[in-house]
Amino acid sequence: MIFCFSGTGNSLYAARSLDTDVISIPQVIDRTDLHFRSERIGIVAPIYGHEMPQMVKAFISRATFETSYVFLILTYGNRHANAVELARQVFGDAGKRIDYIRTLLMVDNFLPAFDMKEQLALDKHVEEQLEVIRQDLAVRKHGFEEVTEADRQAHEHYLQLVGHQPATVWADFSFTARCIGCGLCTKVCPAGCIHLQKHRAVRNRKNCQACMACVHVCPEKAIRINPVLGFREPDPQTRYRNVHVSLSDLVHANWRKALPEEAEKEESSCVI
Ligand SMILES: Cc1cc2nc3c(=O)[nH]c(=O)nc-3n(C[C@H](O)[C@H](O)[C@H](O)COP(=O)(O)O)c2cc1C
Ligand code: SF4
Ligand code: SF4
Repeated sequence: MIFCFSGTGNSLYAARSLDTDVISIPQVIDRTDLHFRSERIGIVAPIYGHEMPQMVKAFISRATFETSYVFLILTYGNRHANAVELARQVFGDAGKRIDYIRTLLMVDNFLPAFDMKEQLALDKHVEEQLEVIRQDLAVRKHGFEEVTEADRQAHEHYLQLVGHQPATVWADFSFTARCIGCGLCTKVCPAGCIHLQKHRAVRNRKNCQACMACVHVCPEKAIRINPVLGFREPDPQTRYRNVHVSLSDLVHANWRKALPEEAEKEESSCVI
């Protein structure tokens, strides 16, 4: 059993590559009963500013796992810094067991710094990394990827750059007049932050996870990323979704307002 959070499909693809039983965290986070039992339980999630998304942290603190093996895979695109150590701390603070943590380098979907065309041209050896993880999980390997002093310093440097603000600082978007009201952004938002008002998308930033799923999915490129801390996105015309993950997969995983069957019905009438 693997629990997953994914904005653009990297973590969803990794989760599916490691297990057939994948449960989307956005689909269960509102349940009162978060007790799960399985021979092994995993979590796959991206890192934002070297940390797990807020929703994943909340899930770890609220869920109870009846299992003898818990693992965590953190997908990232460029620099993981001390993400493994910070994640261990989240499990420790929640009083939860964690047996294995490893990072997984994939396409970097962080639009304020990366050009998606350039990212897609890089071979990050994802399959080879997944194979190593598969082998580790097969023997229930215990251990945590090493964190160096340079990793800790990289995170410290980042915290200074952002003035110790949470990663949601990056989710500064404008929903522009290009919006045609197709509703896709409302369906891929894992936090249910976006709704349509008079055929235009409107966001309530309160629970935003900064996943950027909405920005990446918009067929009209109607969601503009505002410059934050001097970062201006290199190419507002290129967007990303993991090649192994369909739009329908993302909607099923992230749409907070509908049951999967309803999502499927709506999907067929979506303009993309
Ligand atoms: C707001 C934000 C912050 C990010 N911060 C980092 C980071 O600190 N280091 C890094 O290597 N990648 C970072 N990334 C890239 C993602 O972790 C990476 O692309 C991940 O695989 C995306 O997973 P997903 O497709 O499942 O959403 C960030 C992405 C976003 C949207
Ligand atoms: S995906 Fe883009 S065009 Fe569609 S509703 Fe959202 S902002 Fe508007
Ligand atoms: S509003 Fe956009 S960035 Fe924020 S959680 Fe929803 S999809 Fe992600």
